[in-house]
Amino acid sequence: MQEIKYEELDLIQQNLLDEAAAVMETAYNPYSHFYVGAALLSLDGQIITGSNVENAAYGSTICAERAAILRANAKGIRTFEKVAIIGRGESFDTTEVTAPCGSCRQMLFESSQVSERNLELIMATTRKDKIILATMEEILPLAFGPKDLGIDVRKYQ
Ligand code: THU
Repeated sequence: MQEIKYEELDLIQQNLLDEAAAVMETAYNPYSHFYVGAALLSLDGQIITGSNVENAAYGSTICAERAAILRANAKGIRTFEKVAIIGRGESFDTTEVTAPCGSCRQMLFESSQVSERNLELIMATTRKDKIILATMEEILPLAFGPKDLGIDVRKYQ
């Protein structure tokens, strides 16, 4: 885990974070009014984005990270190396980075297992004045995954 300045990110990381910030504005968020954008970088260099989509049955809400994973899957893309995440309030900018919720960590872990990669996470405040780089293993230690069920998901790459 490392705090890093935007200018210290490489161009690929900067671009991924900028894509996350752009898609954040498409959030469907009538209940929380909180905007989240996520951008996945696939192993073959494609960027797939997602934003949060809420529902009157609050628990049916889909977070930005999972929305991005689902969009990627529908394109036949299941292997990733990085994900950027950013959030903002309706009338406030975040002062702490937006990190994935528990369900999204679990879904990202599944992707990391398919990808055979310890995914890199780039998490930022709205103004990108605080950015944390972390790995999948750091944000979900002792994860439960396909290997615990004796399943090899690499064939789903
Ligand atoms: N949310 C995300 O999209 N990703 C996260 O990592 C945290 C939470 C969304 C879900 C909901 O629409 C809103 O933020 C408030 O929880």
